[in-house]
Amino acid sequence: MIKQIHEGFTVDLRLDEEWISRSLATDIRTGITKTKKSLPPKWFYDELGSELFDKITQLNEYYPTEAEREILNIQAAKIAEISEADHLIELGSGSSDKTRSILDAFASSNQLDSFTAFDVSEEILLSSAKQIKQRYPDVNVRAIVGDFDHHLDAVPQTGKRLFIFLGGTIGNFEPEARQRFLSSLTSQLKTGDSLLLGTDLVKEIPRLELAYNDPDGVTAAFNKNILSVLNKNLGANFDIEKFDHVARFDTDREWIDIGLRSRSDQEIYIERLNLMVNFLENEIMRTEISAKFRPEGIEQELTAAGLTIQNFWTDSANDFAVTLSTLA
Ligand code: SAH
Ligand code: AVI
Repeated sequence: MIKQIHEGFTVDLRLDEEWISRSLATDIRTGITKTKKSLPPKWFYDELGSELFDKITQLNEYYPTEAEREILNIQAAKIAEISEADHLIELGSGSSDKTRSILDAFASSNQLDSFTAFDVSEEILLSSAKQIKQRYPDVNVRAIVGDFDHHLDAVPQTGKRLFIFLGGTIGNFEPEARQRFLSSLTSQLKTGDSLLLGTDLVKEIPRLELAYNDPDGVTAAFNKNILSVLNKNLGANFDIEKFDHVARFDTDREWIDIGLRSRSDQEIYIERLNLMVNFLENEIMRTEISAKFRPEGIEQELTAAGLTIQNFWTDSANDFAVTLSTLA
């Protein structure tokens, strides 16, 4: 762990180069040698991946960002009042763009002591922590470069805390991993701490699928970027042109299944793993799921993790939900 002061804020670096390279190698070997190949989505987010995700959030077809922003803008003061928190911790914070309205509400009620942003993607994390420190100079700003599957213990332990997990990123876990994550997050909470959780909702299939198949191909570029990450960091020789982006809604599991479909039979060599991988024509390697929720499912999962629901809000079009829950 390296702690340093950087432009007025603290940086806790849990992902050094050695951790990243070991963990990437293990994750990729495990996922790519399965009969149904899959890669964990956390590796999308190198610098370019984070930039592409930000572009996705600006697409008209990708409704979740603006829907969640609408809820947060309206409810920010209420969130400050109900949670009574003085330490905010944002997981998978990315640009923390939508979080500004929450920070404003907490700052204007003079109850904000610290803000901690936690993300795997170092570049976007440091640039957003810097902007937040400039905007709220009296607030203790911290950046944790970490993996929320492994480093939740790095978060500040003092004060009354509000954990913030936005964007619907909870939907990128598979159901069992999601339950494990919620339990491990709850085990970090102390009585009176809260969780603000953003979840995308089940809706008509065409709108769901369009959000992940934008005509400009930004989502396709984001998806394919994972192959560049493997080429760069593991010495793989993927030809990105030989894969197509696919994203369709699985009506049984109620998630968008996102993957890369091989255009032909092909053989890939991953030098750092000393591994040869065969792809068949039309074989799909899963790169991400994005689960869509129903209100009763959200309540059931949070309750199962030991939390008490305080509020459940949706945007005016009923596209997205934000839930505030507490450890009673
Ligand atoms: N919260 C922002 C960003 C969502 S994109 C929003 O609502 O728009 C998902 C974010 O989670 C990315 O910034 C990505 O780098 C981060 N992330 C993905 N997997 C992670 C992991 N295992 N640990 C920490 N951060 C992760
Ligand atoms: C970060 N996460 C919530 C996004 C989602 O919608 O599942 C990632 C994404 N993948 C493709 N488009 C957006």
